[in-house]
Amino acid sequence: GRVRAPTHIISTISDDRGEEPSYAGVPMSTIVERGYGVGDVISLLWFKRSLPPYCTKFIEICIMLCADHGPCVSGAHNAIVTARAGKDLVSSLVSGLLTIGPRFGGAVDDAARYFKDAYDRGLTPYEFVEGMKKKGIRVPGIGHRIKRGDNKDRRVQLLQQYAYSHFPSTKYMDYAVQVETYTLSKANNLVLNVDGAIGSLFLDLLAGSGMFNKQEIDEIVEIGYLNGLFVLARSVGLIGHTFDQKRLKQPLYRHPWEDVLYTK
Ligand code: ACO
Ligand code: LMR
Repeated sequence: GRVRAPTHIISTISDDRGEEPSYAGVPMSTIVERGYGVGDVISLLWFKRSLPPYCTKFIEICIMLCADHGPCVSGAHNAIVTARAGKDLVSSLVSGLLTIGPRFGGAVDDAARYFKDAYDRGLTPYEFVEGMKKKGIRVPGIGHRIKRGDNKDRRVQLLQQYAYSHFPSTKYMDYAVQVETYTLSKANNLVLNVDGAIGSLFLDLLAGSGMFNKQEIDEIVEIGYLNGLFVLARSVGLIGHTFDQKRLKQPLYRHPWEDVLYTK
């Protein structure tokens, strides 16, 4: 019989061999004809399935709300400094992206992991938060440099409002809110942040949509898909900041001496 030569790569998300490329089996023409949006394309290429419109809309809202947060945050700052050093678009973009991590924008997956584990194990917010403290781990998805209990993050509220009116269940987000209520009783800066809101709400999306089985949800959480939402979203803003600096013909950035504490 015929023997298939062994391949060096296995790929399951897209195919460019036919008359037109397809994403998870859906041809480009269908994507255009059906008026799919970027949320649908993310569903196909990341989750390998079409998700219901309320889910793809949620993905798009996450992307829109996280696209930028001004010039002062780590990512934008790096992109601005890099652009002002005369570097190209890709260098400025990746310089900004490289700041995304456990403290800034890259806490979405860990928030999902820790909230899921704590909720599934039936831990009270007190047990969860104090347990994390004992282990010396900051609660991912909690805390912000400028947002406070009396000045909450509008993005978080918008995501919550969307979920309340469209998701069949918001059990993980409700748990995250209970955690926030407890952390706010300890300190006013320990709000549920946008990473925590997206992490907990995506758990609700995965569990409530009926589109994923338990094993698939565990795999998505374990591999860590969700920081990708922030990375993708913030790329839009980082590219914008790069163009802005170039348009403004900004010179090489040098940090002012007065703003450095030189000490032995
Ligand atoms: N869990 C427990 N304690 C916390 C947390 C947390 N998530 N965040 C802050 N604290 C405590 C700190 O231990 C610190 O107390 P200490 O000085 O006695 O140790 C105090 O609050 C410091 O508060 P701030 O100065 O306001 O916060 P800081 O600037 O140090 O940190 C940060 C801000 C990095 C966002 C922090 O809250 C954190 O690490 N959160 C978890 C990671 C996270 O969710 N990051 C995403 C933020 S949203 C975004 O980037 C888009
Ligand atoms: C962001 O989205 O970049 C912010 O939440 C971080 C910040 O410090 O404002």
